[in-house]
Amino acid sequence: MLTTPAALGVDFGTSHTVAAVRMPSGRTESLLFDASPLLPSAVFAQSTGQLLVGHDALRGSRLDPGRSEPNPKRHIADGTLLLGDVETTVEEAVRAVLSRVAQTARRALGTTPTSAVLTHPASWGAQRRGVLARAAAGTGLGGAVRLLAEPVAAAFYFTQVLGHRVEPGGTLVVYDLGGGTFDISAVRRLPDGGWEVRATAGLDDVGGVDIDAAIVQWMATHAGADETGARLGLSEARRWQQAQQEARAAKEQLSRFVTAPIVLPGLDREVHLTRTEFDELVRPVLERTVVLTTSTLFGSGVSADRLAGVFLVGGSSRIPLVATMLHRALGVAPTVIDQPELVVAHGSLHAPPSGGPTPVDPAPPVRTHPAQALTPPPPPTPPTPPTPPTPPTATTPTTPPPTHTTPSTPTAAPTMAAGPVAQRSIPGEPAPAPRPAAVAFAVAVLLGAVVGAAMTAYPMLAGYDGPLPYWTDRYAWQLIPLAGLLAGIWARRRGVAFVAQVVSGVVAGLVGLVVVQAGRDIFRLPWGIPVEFYFWEHHPDIWFLTLVGGCLGTGLVLEAALAATARLGNRGLAVAAVAAAGMLPSLLLLWIFDWEYQPQSSRLVVDTLFAYPFVLLLAWPAAALAGRPSR
Ligand SMILES: Nc1ncnc2c1ncn2[C@@H]1O[C@H](COP(=O)(O)OP(=O)(O)OP(=O)(O)O)[C@@H](O)[C@H]1O
Ligand SMILES: [Mg+2]
Repeated sequence: MLTTPAALGVDFGTSHTVAAVRMPSGRTESLLFDASPLLPSAVFAQSTGQLLVGHDALRGSRLDPGRSEPNPKRHIADGTLLLGDVETTVEEAVRAVLSRVAQTARRALGTTPTSAVLTHPASWGAQRRGVLARAAAGTGLGGAVRLLAEPVAAAFYFTQVLGHRVEPGGTLVVYDLGGGTFDISAVRRLPDGGWEVRATAGLDDVGGVDIDAAIVQWMATHAGADETGARLGLSEARRWQQAQQEARAAKEQLSRFVTAPIVLPGLDREVHLTRTEFDELVRPVLERTVVLTTSTLFGSGVSADRLAGVFLVGGSSRIPLVATMLHRALGVAPTVIDQPELVVAHGSLHAPPSGGPTPVDPAPPVRTHPAQALTPPPPPTPPTPPTPPTPPTATTPTTPPPTHTTPSTPTAAPTMAAGPVAQRSIPGEPAPAPRPAAVAFAVAVLLGAVVGAAMTAYPMLAGYDGPLPYWTDRYAWQLIPLAGLLAGIWARRRGVAFVAQVVSGVVAGLVGLVVVQAGRDIFRLPWGIPVEFYFWEHHPDIWFLTLVGGCLGTGLVLEAALAATARLGNRGLAVAAVAAAGMLPSLLLLWIFDWEYQPQSSRLVVDTLFAYPFVLLLAWPAAALAGRPSR
């Protein structure tokens, strides 16, 4: 009989660890932990110092939450973990989880696997991968443990298990929405059949637990609670846990039904959450993931219509609205499967030893958002706007989302295990590398100051000794949309919504104005000319409107440019649009507000166009930065 060497693939996740084995018969299976393929990644320190993992750790944490860590992966760069009075290393905590996997694998296979693959986020640098590799050493996972980027494993699943054909050079988008984090990657097929990571980005504060928290708030509103959720007793850790479990169960049910019952803990009352209400609750969270997806695609220089596919992985990608929103944004129907949590572990079994263990051109390991502390009991949060009570209707199966579905994974259908208690802590990250957008912003502000100064210096040096003409201010105005543009890009790369982009643009614009004025006035002082902010002093309303309008216009054009580029793959068009974004709003506003001072509109256009090369100069790096991942 033909036998294949026994192999093990392990996806060490934030909330769950999943493992798949290839049996000597060649068949692949999920390992079961307490009858479920999802092993909670939680650890709990007993008073003896011994570490419990998985469901045992979750049970321990219910009695003594301080001694547990539900998401050790978040602390990969921290070095140590304090669990009650027990101090342990992160390496030890990860090793405890991996040892449990190794033990279960040996039991299932009857022997130690010949080889093992351990997956990691594509953005992890050498330091984090080193912690993972050291944690795996000596656990008996397998003879030779290899590390593999998670989206690469998912890409192998896409071709080897689902049977999709991707030509060399083809790009697949892997959208991974898990329990605690969101990761988006564009991976490209190599001529040898392997994959490389072209671009990757992520959000540390977007995942299943954030969606659960939004539902808990909704429950508080329905209980008629004040903003602390007092009527539900959410200040008690146990009630908070109950509320979260209810929220999570309802959320998962809403992937299959149009309405889900929720028992309000402590009130013994049932309410119903409908799919429509749920969609409105989660839309802002999902919007951020979609924004980051389109900008990451832009950065990888691939147009959506030339994609080999958009593959949804991670348990939270089951939410039907995810596929709907992505379909709308990219014009590509995402590939959805029944068990998106198992994709990475199973896919890793199909990666040959040369399957791309490290990402090509890995971005600096800087996460976009430090996660906020979210520990039970929850901090006071403002209630969500009241929603009309839902009539208790019977739960009915829903129609599937308008997506292209593919055959589900051939692995055994598991039952969902109860999830870990949602807990957030600030992940310890190495010192962030200087951010290109911040550098670009600083350069823009500096250039603005130089331009402002030069505008003033020129008439001075030419022997002009009267008061400075007001038109010098015009050049300062050019910095407004530019600063807005750069701030908008900065915000966009972090997946921030459009309104926030505009707000950050206004703030950046104000900073830019002050710097330009300062640059201008430094040159006035040696000549003893009184400092005068002409428009600021005489027409503050015009300044303000120009600022807001400029940023709004800039944001709109930038959005349009990126959306067009994501679909058409035409970066030149985007650059032209971005350059226009730096010019049009100010041109338009100058036209409107400057009329009484400048009736000769031709002069106005010439003045504005004078600054055009300056804007164009910045447009290319700005457009490139907008789509580049930030970690
Ligand atoms: N049907 C469903 N609808 C919505 N969410 C679901 C559904 N099933 C599972 N989830 C959510 O998926 C999340 C767990 O996903 P997964 O196991 O992929 O995360 P993970 O890999 O541990 O985390 P991460 O990818 O952040 O490291 C949980 O928040 C769970 O509530
Ligand atoms: Mg995961």
